[in-house]
Amino acid sequence: MPEKRYTVRFEPDDVSIDVYREAENLLRVAMVAGVHVNASCGGAGTCGKCKVKILEGEFRTKPTAKLSDAETKQGYCLACQTEILGDLIVEVPVESRYEKGVLARQLNRVAPEHVLAPARLGAEFAALRSDPAVVKYFAALTPPSEDNNGSDMGRLGQFLKQEYGVEQVTTDFAVMRELSQVLRAGTWQVTATVVDDIRAGRRMTHVGPGDTRGRTYCLAIDIGTTTIHGSLLDVNSGEEVAHAGDYNSQISMGEDVISRIVHSQKAGGLEALQKRVVKTMNGVIAELLDKAEVAPGEVSHAVFAGNTTMTQLFLGLNPKYIREAPYVPTANFFPPFKLADLGLAVPPQVTGFVAPCVASYVGGDITAGVLATGIHLSPLLTLFMDVGTNGEIVIGNQDWMVSASASAGPAFEGGGVKFGMRATYGAIEQIRVNPENFEPMILTIGQTAPKGICGSGMIDVLAEFALAGVISQNGKINQDLAAVTNRVRAGETGWEYVLCWKDQTQLDQDLVICEPDIDNLIRTKGSIYAACSVLLKSVGLQFTDLERIILAGGFGHYIDVEKAMAIGLLPEVAPEIVTYGGNTSLTGSKLAALFRDKMEEMEAVATMITNIELSASHIFMDEYVAALFLPHTRMEEFPLQRERLKAMGAIH
Ligand code: FES
Repeated sequence: MPEKRYTVRFEPDDVSIDVYREAENLLRVAMVAGVHVNASCGGAGTCGKCKVKILEGEFRTKPTAKLSDAETKQGYCLACQTEILGDLIVEVPVESRYEKGVLARQLNRVAPEHVLAPARLGAEFAALRSDPAVVKYFAALTPPSEDNNGSDMGRLGQFLKQEYGVEQVTTDFAVMRELSQVLRAGTWQVTATVVDDIRAGRRMTHVGPGDTRGRTYCLAIDIGTTTIHGSLLDVNSGEEVAHAGDYNSQISMGEDVISRIVHSQKAGGLEALQKRVVKTMNGVIAELLDKAEVAPGEVSHAVFAGNTTMTQLFLGLNPKYIREAPYVPTANFFPPFKLADLGLAVPPQVTGFVAPCVASYVGGDITAGVLATGIHLSPLLTLFMDVGTNGEIVIGNQDWMVSASASAGPAFEGGGVKFGMRATYGAIEQIRVNPENFEPMILTIGQTAPKGICGSGMIDVLAEFALAGVISQNGKINQDLAAVTNRVRAGETGWEYVLCWKDQTQLDQDLVICEPDIDNLIRTKGSIYAACSVLLKSVGLQFTDLERIILAGGFGHYIDVEKAMAIGLLPEVAPEIVTYGGNTSLTGSKLAALFRDKMEEMEAVATMITNIELSASHIFMDEYVAALFLPHTRMEEFPLQRERLKAMGAIH
């Protein structure tokens, strides 16, 4: 837990919240504290509705034409334009205020990133010396003489065996072809790079003049359906020296894995997709090298992790049968390869390793994720959930693990929701709805005018709409509210709620949430919950047996755990057992890149996980239908939510 910096007290609600970051935004803090302040422009500073008065304390606020000089002199400011620089007492005036504490709900009193503690990483590994599967050996050879005129290759091999105990090394022909010149150019002092693969054994991939061991770097790459993230690691120190990411340029050929597979079956489709992902990766790698001032020749190896389809597309393997029953991938384990052979802009000796997959819809990103979070080493019964374009789930511990893919669809990543978008600038990420006047309080990423809504905002939409009575438990908009607020109205695609009026958005229309959007979101969350339920039942357990839940992926970062439980995306468990693991696919790749034994462990994880194909499960459909309700038809699994809804009079 980071150190507390300041405390902010909101009046007249008398709600206090600790703040952990210098210059934290006041509107964000109010949002986390559960204090309603009207906010319609996402925090862009243009609607002027988030007016508050600072009664005491140090702050910094941007000048605004939305307030008169007299108001500014009295201490009024726009919460969204104000940074906290000390303990504050803030009054939310009646015109900006949530008038009564209507909802009896527990509030997260700290910012989400502090609630969601990072998983097992960092210090534990920082103390270890890296021991990668690709090693550089320095060789100071005795030059040949009349008494010792053995071959160049034999001389080098003998040295490696005597000095380092490295034997049974096969040599790439490309190395042999250059060897005589390299040895003499380096005056018999050279560095040999040897790949030690679990299955393929030892192979010498490069020999270069001089001692280059001091500058050795490796890459870890997470091949996401939406984004590609890369890390450059210093093999000697084990430190990350650069991080970079970009959108996967395959997106123009389909948003999700199914549409990419469909595209791959067109003439030249597979080749085009492979080239696209390599193009994005080349950009990411160039940025990494540039940032850290590392030459491509100083990279020794790379580890890649992605879902099964992304892995196959990257390697140029036809993914056709991933999509067709009985859903068979080409391979789950992959031999090492030369990056340059796939078109990556690095020297020919750089060797690549790919995280092994479990099944067609549980890929290397999950095995890398399990490795990163250490589920396979822990006695704790853990639910690991990576909600991206698919909801991939693992349940288990050190003794056993089962997995499934929820085929959730990309709703939480923006697909199937009219104004859905990825979590970038202008995306609405947090929403509160005043249950008395149904006015929203919204915040966007970057606090710019809204242009859409991202995954965390969608969870908020479902939770807040349900709690405020804007929608019923089966997701239908309460049409009676049209008489109370002009935000509820009949739209082109059915009933809708206006989140932002056109003049406060970056759009040329009102930003709305309509009933089909809500249906899609409920289907997505229902599918994920049902998948977890089926997995648990398959091993004779239930949600109350879980001792730990780890959320992974970019989506998990901003999930408000309480809200995710309120809508039935997550089971209702003690919030403190829920942690956020970050980009565990990338973290697992980093571990495998730095530690040979972690690479082996990752292979063991893939073998240890038993995948359950949900499309073949009789109980999945029943569970899915039962979960198409907010939070669930089995309200006994959500006692806290049941009490809240009872208190609101929504249920009896
Ligand atoms: Fe602050 Fe609009 S001016 S939210």
